[in-house]
Amino acid sequence: MNILVVGGAGYIGSHMVKRLGQAGCHVTTLDNLSSGHRDAVLCGEFVQGDMADRPLLDQVFAQGQFDAVMHFASFIQVGESVQAPAKYYANNLVNTLQLLDVMLAHDVKHLIFSSTAATFGEPQYVPIDEAHPQQPINPYGRTKLMVELALADYDQAYGLKSVCLRYFNAAGADPEGHLGERHEPETHLVPLVLQAASGRRPHISVFGRDYDTPDGTCIRDYVHIADLCEAHWLALQHLRQGGASDAFNLGNGNGFSVQEVIDTARQVTGQSIPLQEGPRRAGDPARLVADATRARQLLGWQPQYADLATLIGHAWAWEQSRH
Ligand SMILES: NC(=O)c1ccc[n+]([C@@H]2O[C@H](COP(=O)([O-])OP(=O)(O)OC[C@H]3O[C@@H](n4cnc5c(N)ncnc54)[C@H](O)[C@@H]3O)[C@@H](O)[C@H]2O)c1
Repeated sequence: MNILVVGGAGYIGSHMVKRLGQAGCHVTTLDNLSSGHRDAVLCGEFVQGDMADRPLLDQVFAQGQFDAVMHFASFIQVGESVQAPAKYYANNLVNTLQLLDVMLAHDVKHLIFSSTAATFGEPQYVPIDEAHPQQPINPYGRTKLMVELALADYDQAYGLKSVCLRYFNAAGADPEGHLGERHEPETHLVPLVLQAASGRRPHISVFGRDYDTPDGTCIRDYVHIADLCEAHWLALQHLRQGGASDAFNLGNGNGFSVQEVIDTARQVTGQSIPLQEGPRRAGDPARLVADATRARQLLGWQPQYADLATLIGHAWAWEQSRH
């Protein structure tokens, strides 16, 4: 299979490129390196370029003879999306619509799209299943929902088949230690905690201790990067076997609080990890936990790394190998 991975130099995309290569696929990565890393693309062809560059996309598609596209490229910071929505609508929505146009022009009809729990907004109940209303509360979530809606229309009108995978909190690192999380700035809890453990940060900030949760800190659903990649692989098989367009929530259904993540990181690393207490952040719900029953039932997805200590252990091995 020939697969185009857009955004394949980023955190999740780079793990997927490796996974596809191991499965024997011929992989082409297109990435503008706005937040990705060239050395994270461990196999296949690499094209440095932007989704906004239509002539380049046409050239890449003409050469690639792709069977499917996996699309990870977007801006991902919720706070920045509130301050600079134009940047988010331009890249996450407009550039994605261009990618879809090019796919159609080159008769590539299978797409796996990185969506997000942020499309749901403030949870009305947890765990969150696919029937939960989608009412995003920030531009980042809205851009992702708009793409989901466009994809439903593109299937209806043009026969473009897609699977939207709504990740909750992607975390962990390649179990073989070759890849890990390298966002700059980093906003995700697990790498931040581990940077505090290794002394690269003075402390980890805990935003709010008065939530309606057992220890008062926010609860999130951390899904291991290797399990996410497996879900993409299964989603691709689903489309290849003639499956319908669909959307799946991906998480373990097992929430962990900020304090539990810190305590587990203390056990795994043997470091004390200093804390700094801060006030709640606007827009942080108390609990975000996925109901991934449909992905398990329809895709046959079985997460292998649901254990938090294992996930943090892989991320810690990566952190230590780099510093
Ligand atoms: N990390 C998470 O917990 C999480 C959760 C939910 C959804 N997602 C989604 O998963 C996807 C991947 O997230 P990530 O954490 O790997 O982010 P990332 O920033 O590490 O990766 C995104 C990649 O896309 C590239 N890119 C961005 N705009 C581009 C453009 N116009 N042209 C070419 N390349 C471009 C970047 O250089 C980067 O390599 C994103 O779409 C994100 O919204 C991530």
